[in-house]
Amino acid sequence: MEDDKIPGSHWKRCQKWQSMLSSRGIVNIIGFWLLVAMIGSVSRSDGALCPAVCRCEEEALTTSCANAALEFVPIQLNPEVKNIDLSNNKISNLHFTFTFYDKLVQLDLSSNKISTLGSANFEYQRALKHLNLSSNEIEKLSKDSLKGLKALKVLDISYNRLEKLTSIAFRELHSLLILKLRGNRLMHFEDGLFKSTKHLEELWVEDNQFLVVPSSALSDVQTLRHLSLSRNLIESIAEGEMAQLSQLSTLQLDGNVISDINPKALAPLLSLDHLDISDNNFTALPTNSISKLSNLTTLRFSGNFINNIPSLAFRGLFHLKYVKLDRLQNLETIDPRAFVDNVHLEKVIMDFNIAMEKLPTRLFHGNPKLKCVSVRYNKLESLEVTHFPLDQLRELKVGGNPLQCNCSLSWLWQLIKIQKSKSKSAKLGNNTVNSMEEQAEQEHHHDLMLDVADIRCNGPEDMKDHLLSEASKYQMDCSVGWMAAVSVAVTVLFILAVIGGVVYWAPNRKSKSNKKKGQINKNGDLSTLDTMLRRPPSCPMNGMMVEPYEVTRIEKSSLGIMPPAILHPNEYRSLPPWDPYGAGHCQSTMNIYETLDENTKPRPHIVYV
Ligand SMILES: *[C@@H]1O[C@H](CO)[C@@H](O)[C@H](O)[C@H]1NC(C)=O
Ligand SMILES: *[C@@H]1O[C@H](CO)[C@@H](O)[C@H](O)[C@H]1NC(C)=O
Ligand SMILES: *[C@@H]1O[C@H](CO)[C@@H](O)[C@H](O)[C@H]1NC(C)=O
Repeated sequence: MEDDKIPGSHWKRCQKWQSMLSSRGIVNIIGFWLLVAMIGSVSRSDGALCPAVCRCEEEALTTSCANAALEFVPIQLNPEVKNIDLSNNKISNLHFTFTFYDKLVQLDLSSNKISTLGSANFEYQRALKHLNLSSNEIEKLSKDSLKGLKALKVLDISYNRLEKLTSIAFRELHSLLILKLRGNRLMHFEDGLFKSTKHLEELWVEDNQFLVVPSSALSDVQTLRHLSLSRNLIESIAEGEMAQLSQLSTLQLDGNVISDINPKALAPLLSLDHLDISDNNFTALPTNSISKLSNLTTLRFSGNFINNIPSLAFRGLFHLKYVKLDRLQNLETIDPRAFVDNVHLEKVIMDFNIAMEKLPTRLFHGNPKLKCVSVRYNKLESLEVTHFPLDQLRELKVGGNPLQCNCSLSWLWQLIKIQKSKSKSAKLGNNTVNSMEEQAEQEHHHDLMLDVADIRCNGPEDMKDHLLSEASKYQMDCSVGWMAAVSVAVTVLFILAVIGGVVYWAPNRKSKSNKKKGQINKNGDLSTLDTMLRRPPSCPMNGMMVEPYEVTRIEKSSLGIMPPAILHPNEYRSLPPWDPYGAGHCQSTMNIYETLDENTKPRPHIVYV
């Protein structure tokens, strides 16, 4: 410390003290002596006084007296001090106390009992950049409350009791960049309030009582980038009610009761990047109102009352990357074309949509950049591989749905197995010997992460309340296993018996038409067999899971009893080659999506018999 400086400072302090004495009453002197008496033990370090309850770092010119039950601002600190932290004390007034510290850059008075800032108490704080007055009991700002704070960049008066701000309250805050007024009782801003704060970039007014966007006051701050009006009482935004904030990049309007935004209202917000209109009273997506926001990358629309996401719901939002659509309790349907305009979409969160039973197939077909999809805690009973572009996804969350874990989920089960084996081998270290096949398989799935521990089954009976990952291979197998083979054999025997019966019985009934009748009966029976072979009873919708060799075997064995004409040789030759996925092994899921694309490849099972 430059000791020679101290006496001078003390002298200056004395001068101020004298001038104060003359101009302001004796009350403060009493306060001062009370304070000195209260602090009692005072330590001296490097020539400055530091109350025992404070921590003074003389080098850094920083003093912290947080949580010290102080009732007054200590006035004997080093007058050169730059940072004072007085948060969490019991300070109730500031009269004349900061007069001593004109080098202050940062002052934290949060969580005290200040009910008034008085007048001109910051007059000497010409260097103060950061003032935190949050969580006090301030009821109003008079015209001189903040007088002198010409360098102030950040002002936090959140969680006070402000009901009104006079239009000249901020008139000297020419440097203000960030203003936080959250948690007060403000209903509007008077015109001209921001006339002097020409550089304001962030305005936080959450948890107040605004009924409309205070647009005429805001029109003075063209530099505004962030505006938060969350949790107010705004019901709608009419045309012209949004100021011309062409720099605004984030607008938070969540937690209001907005049911309507005029289609032109948001048009002036040319730079808007983030829009949060969650938890409002929308009953339909305000597609027309947001479609002008061509630079929007993030949209939050959770907690509204829509029941449908229509085709092109996010029309014109070509730069949209992230969309959050949680807690839409009435949402039942999504149009498969809902996201087609959003070619840059990367992340879609649609959790807790408790009425949503079904996802449209290929909902994300037009979104080549999609990386993350979350549909947790919906009412989905089944998930199809065609719902998700698995080959490009990095993260897929489907936990918390009442899934029917039958074999139609075998693709998901396979992905879970792969993820588990991968995390196991990752735990064991890189030098684990993996088969080439396994390695290739894992590379295919680069980083697709599933919320394995949350994917539970609600049925069938034997899987209820179990994790899907606990399902056995058998439970996930739609193929004609040995059980099915046995049942087919039994059926074949039954049919043989029926045919035998018909052949035996027919001649006794009618002598002339017996041959024709027999043919018809045979055809009828064979078509049943045909149906059974094509669609194994255990998985009617999943013919592609049928084990090819098994079917071929059965088919050949049945050939003996079939009229040869039923199997057309051409059809037989035109069988498509079995692909590995179609053969019931989902390892090559890299291109599941394409493999199962009905248009690109014929379904093998249809051709049989
Ligand atoms: C002001 O203090 C409160 C409480 O300590 C803190 O939460 C808040 O972030 C501070 N404000 C600023 C602008 O630093
Ligand atoms: C907004 O929705 C809530 C919840 O449904 C309802 O209680 C409230 O009356 C609605 N408010 C307006 C202004 O529509
Ligand atoms: C599996 O469960 C879903 C949902 O209940 C059902 O739609 C589907 O038909 C079932 N598939 C099989 C093979 O049982």
